This record gives sequence, structure tokens and C-alpha cells, in this order.
Amino acid sequence: MSERVAIVTGAGRGIGRAIALELARRAISLCLAARTAEELEQTRSLSGLTPQRSLVVAVDLTRAEGPQELVEAAMNHFQRIDVVINNAGWAPGRKLLVDCSEAELDRMVALNLRAPIALTRIVAREMIRLGRGGAIVNIASTAARKVPAKEAIYAATKAGLIAFTRASFAELRSYGIRLAVVVPGLVDTSLIPPNRALDRSRMLAPQSVAAAVMHVLDAPQSACPLEITLEPQYEPVRSGVSR
Ligand SMILES: NC(=O)c1ccc[n+]([C@@H]2O[C@H](COP(=O)([O-])OP(=O)(O)OC[C@H]3O[C@@H](n4cnc5c(N)ncnc54)[C@H](OP(=O)(O)O)[C@@H]3O)[C@@H](O)[C@H]2O)c1
Repeated sequence: MSERVAIVTGAGRGIGRAIALELARRAISLCLAARTAEELEQTRSLSGLTPQRSLVVAVDLTRAEGPQELVEAAMNHFQRIDVVINNAGWAPGRKLLVDCSEAELDRMVALNLRAPIALTRIVAREMIRLGRGGAIVNIASTAARKVPAKEAIYAATKAGLIAFTRASFAELRSYGIRLAVVVPGLVDTSLIPPNRALDRSRMLAPQSVAAAVMHVLDAPQSACPLEITLEPQYEPVRSGVSR
């Protein structure tokens, strides 16, 4: 199979689904990963890709073995991986640090930080072995830059992901492996629960984040857009209404 192959984590809905559909439009074969197979099947169906050119992998990426299982499934089906989008992420809504449970702490660190690091480590070995270069795009958050109250753990995991992207770029660039991190502000997905302080029509669309990812893939081979920050053009947080 000669077409390029992308792994997209969190591809069942929201930003991950938008990225997957845009990749499919560019004739890139897809390995779609998340826990909920039904949502992944919906993404696959919307992509219009044949079963030969798309693979659904139901995997919990908070499990230490999750990233390895995902890569094995992709390699068994496609025999190559050209692109990885580390998109799956989670936060328990806005919550004071002292009110966060141990389970919430572990889940955020495991999913938002450990899983993308592990997946990058495993896939980079394959990309180096195959010798064709590749691209790994991580989805962080402006929470990492604003270090907001009630998002301390989430902000820390996303700041870690930005640091990891930059450091792994320094290690992998010479193999023709492109590393990039997209840093969005508020995006209108189910991760952000209904809140009267938010004007959802002003939030970023998942498709806008997908467009930033495509910009990374489309850039000239000699230029890597290492970090892209996306803010909604108009402020979505209503002034005077507490969140
Ligand atoms: N929405 C925003 O305002 C915003 C802003 C900046 C950055 N981001 C980041 O963008 C990324 C996507 O967010 P989103 O807004 O699209 O969220 P979403 O709509 O909640 O989608 C999250 C995706 O991740 C998957 N996922 C969750 N837990 C998982 C696990 N343990 N193992 C494997 N997959 C898992 C979900 O599927 P299952 O539940 O089926 O596993 C789903 O497909 C996240 O990294 C988020 O931090 C979001």
C-alpha cells in the first residue's frame, strides 16, 4: 500500500473527527483510535474510506499498554505510519486543584501527557526504521499559556506537551520527522459543557483546528511550523458572567 497513513487519537468526535475527515479528503488512510467504537465507526463512515484504507481501534490510552497496542494494530493493517495526531485529551471541567480527585489527576496525566509521549516514542522508532520521515502533531491548549485558575492540572499537562514537542523536534528533525503542536483556545465541542458565560458561536470550530493541522502537513519539507496558536477572533467569554 503506497498511500500515506495517519493515526488520529480521539477521532470519535470533536476536533479529532474534524482532523480525520480532513485527512481523508486528502486521500490519507486512517487509523482511528478512542474508547468508543461506535463513534469511531461513524467517523469512518463519514470519511468515505474503504475498510482497507481505514481501521478502527477501540483503545483506552490511559492504560500503559494502550499506545503500543495501537501502533501494533496500525502496523499490522497498513505496514506503515506516516502521520500521528495526538489529539485525545480530557479535563473534568473547571475545578479547583484542591477539589480534584486522585483519579482525575491520574487520568489527565495519563491521557494528556503520558499517552502522546509514549505514542511518539514508539512511532518515531518505526519512522526511523522505515526511513521515510513523517509528521507528529500534538494538540495542546492555550490553558498552557494562560495558566488559568481551576485548570491547574490540565494546564500543566498541556504545557508539558508543548515542551515535549519542542524537545522531540530537536531529536527527530534530522530524520525528516516533522513535530508540531497546535495550541487552540476555546473550541465548540462536547469537552466544554454548556455554560451561560460562553457565546458558543464565537468559539473556534473543530474544522479550524483541523485546518491548522493541515497547514503543518502542507508546509514545505524544509520548514516546520513547530507551534501554531489559534484564538477565537471574537472573545467568547461574556463579560460580567462568572464561569
Ligand atoms: N474543546 C476545547 O475547547 C479545546 C481547547 C483546546 C484544546 N483542546 C484539546 O483538543 C483535544 C480534543 O478535544 P475535544 O474538544 O475534541 O474533546 P471531545 O469532543 O471530548 O473528544 C475527545 C476524544 O478523545 C477520546 N478519548 C477520551 N478519553 C480517551 C481515552 N482514555 N483513550 C482514548 N481516547 C480517549 C474521546 O473518545 P472516547 O471518550 O470514546 O474515548 C473523543 O474521541 C483534547 O486534547 C483537548 O484537550 C480542546
